[in-house]
Amino acid sequence: MTLKEEIQKRRTFAIIAHPDAGKTTLTEKLLLFGGAIQTAGAVKSNKIDTATKSDWMEIEKQRGISVATSVMGFEYKDIKINLLDTPGHQDFAEDTYRTLTAVDSVIMVIDCVKGVEIQTEKLMEVCRMRNTPVICFINKLDREGRDPYDLLDEVETKLGISVRPLSWPIGMGKGFKGVYNLYDQQLNLFTPSQRKLSDDRQVFENLDDPQLDGLIGPGNAKQLREDVDLIEGVYPDFDVNEYLEGKIAPVFFGSAVNNFGVNEMLDTFIKIAPAPKSRETDVREVKPEESKFSGFIFKIHANMDPNHRNRIAFLRICSGKFERNKPYNHVHGAKPLRFSNVTQFMAQDKEIIDEAFPGDIVGLYDTGNLKIGDTLTDGENMVFTGIPSFSPEIFREVVNKDAMKTKQLEKGLKQLMEEGVAQLFTFDIGSRKVVGTVGQLQFEVIQFRLKNEYNATAEFHPMNLYKACWISSKDKKQLDEFVRSKNRYIARDKDDKLVFMAESKSWLQMVQDNYPDIEFHFTSEF
Ligand code: G4P
Repeated sequence: MTLKEEIQKRRTFAIIAHPDAGKTTLTEKLLLFGGAIQTAGAVKSNKIDTATKSDWMEIEKQRGISVATSVMGFEYKDIKINLLDTPGHQDFAEDTYRTLTAVDSVIMVIDCVKGVEIQTEKLMEVCRMRNTPVICFINKLDREGRDPYDLLDEVETKLGISVRPLSWPIGMGKGFKGVYNLYDQQLNLFTPSQRKLSDDRQVFENLDDPQLDGLIGPGNAKQLREDVDLIEGVYPDFDVNEYLEGKIAPVFFGSAVNNFGVNEMLDTFIKIAPAPKSRETDVREVKPEESKFSGFIFKIHANMDPNHRNRIAFLRICSGKFERNKPYNHVHGAKPLRFSNVTQFMAQDKEIIDEAFPGDIVGLYDTGNLKIGDTLTDGENMVFTGIPSFSPEIFREVVNKDAMKTKQLEKGLKQLMEEGVAQLFTFDIGSRKVVGTVGQLQFEVIQFRLKNEYNATAEFHPMNLYKACWISSKDKKQLDEFVRSKNRYIARDKDDKLVFMAESKSWLQMVQDNYPDIEFHFTSEF
């Protein structure tokens, strides 16, 4: 197969959802279709049980399990699908944000009872930054949920994306009869079953056909005819290019646990979802079909065993062919790197592979050379952009509790930050170190790992901070002046970029108003 054919064959995506909406269930059904698993229940939820929420060791163990399911590859109708898993627990949201930088599209699951929830909103913000194409799956139609029109309105207003239903539900909850596929003009009748693999579809080019009344009842048939008329009148025709540009999200309705509506979504997905696309670097745009390999690291998973400092770095291949044992340019590092242990994840199995292509994700065993955001190439010096850090939500000051182990503490902090466990900011004044995270759990993780792996003892003292904003200005003089006058609140991130540490929302607003020439950014790339 040519490189171009390999690329056209691949779809790399993630499922995003608020916990409990049905991500794990949908993943499992997709894997069943791909023949990657044989039985339901084979996919472990990476959701953290409420009972073990405070026990982060348990969580890390579960995360350990989830390494195996971090990427699930399978084939469906000659398409190689790479599904990237995202952590369920919101304290690991930063992990999810980064994973989204490595995909070409997203399927968003929404619970029809709960509608758009907070985690979905946050994840969608990240998708919007990169104009990631989104397909929306409205789940749990076997339950009494909200009115479908309301749900669509909510997606548009809360998530800021236009929608276009490609299927439409007939009834809901106990009265759920099935969905009508507006795209293929097919009626898909619902029979609750967790086992069946194919839908019961019937083509209905003309909904006026009286057979419809017999199949779903005259009341439902009348309602469906009205709904379809309304939808076709209100929504413009589905334009695949608008979907590919991230402007419009096609919507499907179904019930993942009953394996209903999943197959038809998957069939549409492989037709419309993008194959690997070009990606930006600091130098130029890189096309996937370029013969020379390039890729970037978006996730690092540490081994919890302190005797083995092994880590698995997840590489997204962006162009060319990646080959095992070939030396590659580590753009951020001092020397070329070659990898003898290259893993690809096929559903539940890991296998050592010799080559991989754009869109593929491979796991590289690494002893500490690689960090998140690093670029690997077959020669060229360039760095992939679009893998930013996001402003954390919780800040704590690092207090060294063992002066004899200062070096160890610094090394430990540096390495943990490279893994993306949290972000470190160092204040200009007094060199105070502040760790920022999206969840409380990370502090326990860091404290434990510092002790366990680096023999350093640190405490984390609460700080009254609201946001870390990266700052810039076209006017260097103004920026210098700002840094001077606000020096108590100025810190540097890991790349020595200037950061303004704002204590409260209202105060940040006031500072922004007072300094119109300074730009405040909530992500590290701007
Ligand atoms: P998540 O990964 O997004 O967190 O969600 P997950 O798939 O684990 O699903 C959350 C719960 O919703 C599960 O129930 C699951 O069975 C249920 N669910 C998923 N799809 C549907 C659906 O189409 N209809 C209905 N009625 N329920 C659905 P649970 O009770 O938490 O777990 P379980 O014991 O049933 O596995």
